[in-house]
Amino acid sequence: MSALAPTYARFPVEFVSGSGCTLVDADGAEYLDFLAGIAVCSVGHCHPAVVAAVGEQAARLMHVSNLFTTAPMTRLAERLVARSLGGNVFFANSGAEANEAALKLVRKARPGGDVIVVHGAFHGRTYGALSATPQEAKQAPFAPLVPGFRAVEAMPEAIAAAVDEHTAAVLLEPVQGESGVHPLPLETLRAARSACDAAGAALVFDEVQCGMGRTGTLWAYEQTGVVPDAMTLAKGLGGGMPIGALLIGPRLADVFAPGDHGSTFGGGPVVAAAANAVLDIVDDAAFLLAVMENGARLADGLRDLPGVRAVRARGLMVAADVDADAQEIARRALLEQRLIVNATGPGTLRLVPPLIVGEAEIDEALRRLGILLGAR
Ligand SMILES: Cc1ncc(COP(=O)(O)O)c(C=O)c1O
Repeated sequence: MSALAPTYARFPVEFVSGSGCTLVDADGAEYLDFLAGIAVCSVGHCHPAVVAAVGEQAARLMHVSNLFTTAPMTRLAERLVARSLGGNVFFANSGAEANEAALKLVRKARPGGDVIVVHGAFHGRTYGALSATPQEAKQAPFAPLVPGFRAVEAMPEAIAAAVDEHTAAVLLEPVQGESGVHPLPLETLRAARSACDAAGAALVFDEVQCGMGRTGTLWAYEQTGVVPDAMTLAKGLGGGMPIGALLIGPRLADVFAPGDHGSTFGGGPVVAAAANAVLDIVDDAAFLLAVMENGARLADGLRDLPGVRAVRARGLMVAADVDADAQEIARRALLEQRLIVNATGPGTLRLVPPLIVGEAEIDEALRRLGILLGAR
């Protein structure tokens, strides 16, 4: 009997160390990691700059609470503001918490207002974020949920019809991750923007998974021409350290007042130092270009593999629909090929490697996957 709560069907592998795109298990076996802790370890495992930033900050000051400022937190906030929406930042510890902050923000801006989400969305497991995640299997056991959420098709007409003067916000992932890498149509994003503008509602983008360089631009919205009023981040932001953020653009920047929201740990100096080190690496034109190019190499290679029906990709956020049991392929990839990928559904594999992945590693991952797909 495990001492861990049975919330995950874990694989029988224990990892003890990592470097770049490689993980090492307790027996010393090496694995090629194309999952990166579910799109988290953006600059690879134990990047020396992140390790140094964490070590140096941990030795200097670990925690003071949000009753005070620290230099790493202030610097990170200023950089995120300057590089995205303007306005200000609320720091949290995870993606779900960043979304909770967003939900409170938009409800305060329009008291009692509805939040419109789309089918296929995933925004997290806490009650507000779960209520924004229209998936029967995830929601049903935990009813009653938070009221005021409405799910519609991710189509322009459906969003336009749903938004009115009672709408607090439309919450969207520009590229849906957990549903199997589905970029929302540009027309849907544009329709959401104009419907929100017309109704005085907020457009919020959840870039928890698709932000921080994952799609080949620092933010996914930069490729769409649609700018949200607020945006949530987590995952890749800390390069492996737990940090989330709600970036609040100028329109909503004055909505929160002291006492409205809080977090004991949010934006603490160690995680903020890690995020600053990640930003130093990722917010670089040459780095982001390589993400685009390597993403195209991975996507093209997947298209050439046997049994691959469709590939969806934005930068290094890649999914392949396969003519096989994707869960079984992911399990065999791990245990037989020492390649880490995951299945987002019965027929869909997701590949979200560290953004520092190189051509040779991509080709090797494709080779290992090809053995499994061809050998069925
Ligand atoms: C788009 C998106 N939003 C929110 C979350 C929740 O993030 P966390 O698991 O850090 O709470 C996830 C996690 O997969 C996600 O992909």
